[in-house]
Amino acid sequence: MKIRKLQHDEVPPYDLLLLADPSRELVEAYIAEGECYIAEEKDGIIGVFVIVPLTKETVEIKNIAVCEDKQGRGIGKKLLLEAIKVAKSNGYNIFEIGTGNSSIGQLALYQKCGFRISGVIKDFFVQHYDTVIMENGIQCKDMIRLRLEI
Ligand code: ACO
Ligand code: ACO
Repeated sequence: MKIRKLQHDEVPPYDLLLLADPSRELVEAYIAEGECYIAEEKDGIIGVFVIVPLTKETVEIKNIAVCEDKQGRGIGKKLLLEAIKVAKSNGYNIFEIGTGNSSIGQLALYQKCGFRISGVIKDFFVQHYDTVIMENGIQCKDMIRLRLEI
């Protein structure tokens, strides 16, 4: 697997990006502000992440996704560790993530990588998304903020 920055003349892999965030409008907005990285294998793109600077010190991973038939094999963890490495080498020292209250597997992955919960934005997904998002039989309403010092 090779991880590389998406070039400006390449089309972002929206099928993957929309797995992590159902709002195409929000995805397009943060891709324009940040940097998109893709993971490739012989048969094509299998993963993606987008990092966006928030301040001089802080960067946020706004989107991370692995194609459905390759999930659960350690690729997401590799992508997250690579995103942290990129942020660190670009001089950032705080790395943030926001995810849904219903994203149980994602919350497990982030905490296994050392992230700590730093806050909750109540009703974020109710206010910013037109559709009801359900995961693990739970409605996604609140955004759980996590942070790692890098
Ligand atoms: N309980 C405990 N641990 C769990 C659970 C669970 N329910 N679910 C997952 N995990 C753990 C796994 O055991 C593994 O840890 P380990 O390495 O110690 O065994 C880790 O979490 C998952 O690791 P990977 O196999 O690397 O994960 P994967 O390749 O599936 O990638 C990802 C994770 C990116 C979340 C993928 O499942 C995906 O694309 N999901 C759909 C899109 C999505 O929800 N993206 C995140 C949205 S939030 C955001 O983008 C900021
Ligand atoms: N992902 C998604 N859903 C899950 C997961 C998971 N990883 N784990 C459990 N669930 C869901 C189940 O699917 C089920 O939902 P459903 O009815 O929609 O299918 C529900 O959570 C669990 O339901 P039960 O089977 O009724 O739970 P159980 O009889 O196992 O009781 C309890 C839960 C009390 C937590 C039990 O596991 C236990 O005694 N654990 C050890 C003690 C403990 O941790 N207690 C809580 C500490 S906090 C406190 O006491 C305030």
